Amino acid sequence: MTELIKELMPQHVAIIMDGNGRWAKSRGVPRVAGHRAGMEAMKKIVDHSDKLGIKYLTVYAFSTENWKRSMEEVSGIFGLLVAFVKRDLKELIENNVRVEVLGDYSSIPEDARRSLQKTLDDTKADTGLQFNIALNYGARDEIRRSVEDIAAKVKAGQLEPEDVTEELIAEGLWTGKSHSYTPDPELIIRTSGEERLSNFLLWQGAYSEFVFTDVLWPDFTPEEYEKCIAEYQSRDRRFGGR
Ligand code: FPP
Repeated sequence: MTELIKELMPQHVAIIMDGNGRWAKSRGVPRVAGHRAGMEAMKKIVDHSDKLGIKYLTVYAFSTENWKRSMEEVSGIFGLLVAFVKRDLKELIENNVRVEVLGDYSSIPEDARRSLQKTLDDTKADTGLQFNIALNYGARDEIRRSVEDIAAKVKAGQLEPEDVTEELIAEGLWTGKSHSYTPDPELIIRTSGEERLSNFLLWQGAYSEFVFTDVLWPDFTPEEYEKCIAEYQSRDRRFGGR
């Protein structure tokens, strides 16, 4: 395994899990099979984050734009979420992992919403790794929501316009104090050779380091993960502590 420096371990790593479709295509299997393999990769990265002492892991599981995909694929992804909870919830609890959702999941299919709610409730008191699943998440939408809340308070006379600080906007995001209480990510990883943010953590990523790898998400292993963290650590050492 890669030599990592404990003192330079990022507190929060966020991942854009990209390439499931291409992985499936290259094997001539349905796209959902790619997402299933992606889910297995995700599980290993959750476990490994915990081992490395990372405190927050955020994965981009479903964006506000992903609804445009075929019904079959969308229901396949949510089906995987249900399967993941069914199989792994016990282990998450044993490992003291707390699950949170970034995004408005009220509109996802009923069985997935129920499984997710159970996961959130059952892991609520856990104090280990915080595993954030970005689901029906869009960064512009979350900023808009926060600003809408603030505007309502200004209108109600509870706030003056000059009270609108960066901290206040951040508080109303899914990562903010009013939701999942997650610090900004030091590191954002995107797999599959794409080098875009795709409406992910636009506000929180203002100072993040980006690491891109050509590996398709289902092939992303703990070894690859460590390489990405090592790359981050080498940059951090060059530019000094933030
Ligand atoms: C991007 O690959 C991946 C997704 C949109 C879905 C990610 C979902 C999982 C890893 C599994 C489900 C896990 C949970 C928690 C619901 P892509 O389909 O855009 O790949 P492509 O660019 O190669 O087509």
